[in-house]
Amino acid sequence: MTSPGRLGDFEVLRRIGTGGMAEIFLATKRGAKGTEKRLVVKRLLPQHARSERLRTMFIHEAQLAIRLAHPNLVHVYELADDPEGGLLLAMEFVDGADLGRILTEMKRRGERLPVPVALRIVEQAARGLHYAHEYSDEGAEPLAIVHRDISPQNILVSRGGAVKVADLGVASARFVRDETGVQPGKLRYMSPEQARGEKVDRRCDVYALGVVLYELLRLTSPYGERRGAALARAVTHGKLEPPLAKAPDIPPDVLPVLAAALAPDAARRIGTMSSGRSSSCGSAGRMRPSRTARASVLPRSSPYGDTRRSSSYRTTPSA
Ligand SMILES: Nc1ncnc2c1ncn2[C@@H]1O[C@H](COP(=O)(O)OP(=O)(O)OP(=O)(O)O)[C@@H](O)[C@H]1O
Ligand SMILES: [Mg+2]
Repeated sequence: MTSPGRLGDFEVLRRIGTGGMAEIFLATKRGAKGTEKRLVVKRLLPQHARSERLRTMFIHEAQLAIRLAHPNLVHVYELADDPEGGLLLAMEFVDGADLGRILTEMKRRGERLPVPVALRIVEQAARGLHYAHEYSDEGAEPLAIVHRDISPQNILVSRGGAVKVADLGVASARFVRDETGVQPGKLRYMSPEQARGEKVDRRCDVYALGVVLYELLRLTSPYGERRGAALARAVTHGKLEPPLAKAPDIPPDVLPVLAAALAPDAARRIGTMSSGRSSSCGSAGRMRPSRTARASVLPRSSPYGDTRRSSSYRTTPSA
């Protein structure tokens, strides 16, 4: 599939990804006097935009996402119509790599992320999520925003080391997609209550971020090699393999916070991202990563550039 040259007001430079219900493009938007802004355009595919329910949900969630502004959230600029019938969401371009890609690279190398780097990434993502969880309009009741789809692919790390959570606000639309069976959700990161199809609150994001931290520390899933029905059973019961206390390579001072984030019963789980952060602060704060450690996991060049495409990561500090 080739990239469309233009999508509404956006000039497409290249496609950078395809998700379950959307395509992602690197694009520019021209302003007055020759100014231009580089951004990412997420295009809800026309076949999904034709579903009235999905379309309404996507628009509603986009309205929400546009209001959020936090350094650890990918900033959403505007919603626009796609001349071909889809919907276009313009957002901040994070020049770097998603955590899924970083994890793949670390697994390929057989190397773990330095613990302080893993903690720092998760702590930054937690800051962005906490802001969204607490968000309310001008003193009104909090809107009870829940991401629902925290996974390594939705946590972006820029080449400068910034950590930004993507797709906040459009996650419910994705949830409908799961309900309608267009694409299965990322079961491996779901909290037990979400996997059981129960009503969820912010604690499902706490659980999902716990799964991400576990993977960053151990380079394996907390559900081991399970797939299909066995995985679904393990996730719905929150049954980790091996049990957390027996899992090697988890630093002892991280273990309590990870156990509290991965409690199968939401009532026993860390209640807010901020309490999770403060209880892990001992570890994250004391072990603040050095510039060298940060540089060791960040992409050397943008993985999105055609000519600069590179799957390698720095092994030496940046200049
Ligand atoms: N704002 C952005 N800046 C840079 N890259 C991005 C941005 N948004 C998404 N990407 C890249 O595009 C990929 C695909 O994004 P997309 O959100 O469509 O799918 P996904 O994250 O894999 O799954 P999901 O549908 O659960 O979000 C991401 O994993 C990320 O690598
Ligand atoms: Mg995404």
